[in-house]
Amino acid sequence: MKEEIADAWTNQSFGYSKFVQKGLSKRYEREGWQTIFSEELGTKKLKVLDVGTGPGVVALQLAYLGHDVTGVDNSDGMLKEAIENCKRFKQSIEFQKGDAESLPFPDNSFDAVVSKFALWTIPHPEKALHEWYRVVKPGGKVVYIDGNWYTDLKNSWFRRRWSDLSKLLILITEFRNPYSHGFEDETRLNLWSSHAIRPSADLEMMKEVGFIDITAKEGLKRRVLSGTRLIKHGYWKDYFLVSGVKRKIDSDL
Ligand SMILES: C[S@@+](CC[C@H](N)C(=O)[O-])C[C@H]1O[C@@H](n2cnc3c(N)ncnc32)[C@H](O)[C@@H]1O
Repeated sequence: MKEEIADAWTNQSFGYSKFVQKGLSKRYEREGWQTIFSEELGTKKLKVLDVGTGPGVVALQLAYLGHDVTGVDNSDGMLKEAIENCKRFKQSIEFQKGDAESLPFPDNSFDAVVSKFALWTIPHPEKALHEWYRVVKPGGKVVYIDGNWYTDLKNSWFRRRWSDLSKLLILITEFRNPYSHGFEDETRLNLWSSHAIRPSADLEMMKEVGFIDITAKEGLKRRVLSGTRLIKHGYWKDYFLVSGVKRKIDSDL
């Protein structure tokens, strides 16, 4: 299943990269995300890992904020786009191929781990969260953003029509096929996130893994999308952010 998912992401890497390049060129969107990451990570320079970096959009945002960033992904196509975007936007970021459920980094390697729109497509989320916990330093933070993608689209007639209209708009105004997640229906149905109630399921998993100071925030979409970007990409219900801190010592218990 994991290989099939990586291939699906590689197949759509070009279109997805265009989508994130457009977002990076919009001041509202760029600053919206930077404010969200600054609120979570503070302003001190950190060594940060971006898991499921895709075309490197979060890695770039973090680099703009002055952090020392490494991006990891298991899709070759996405990594190629990330390297090109890094050159295009003149930032220095290290990208590495790796599986979010079995990261190629030693324990306690990063001050923070960040991930956006990736956990929903990772087959074993608890395993991934255990890994993210392992590689972050004690006292360091894991922050991830995700959405209720298919559960919401499936349940809302309005959002399905909006999504059809968006695809047409992208085709007409950007002369390109809108990226679609491109998974076979069966793969999508087999994803844990197609059946989970999120972010409450995330909070449970974070607790199980051993994180402390766990929080969830909702209402992010309007902070990053406006105008035509909101019309074209706002049909998803909302984005949510989950964060937790790695316990420092047993006496924190
Ligand atoms: C929707 S894209 C998000 C990309 C980027 N973080 C963003 O915010 O636009 C999801 C990414 O997660 C990656 N991914 C999915 N499963 C993964 C896994 N097991 N290990 C590493 N990366 C994975 C995909 O290859 C893809 O690049």
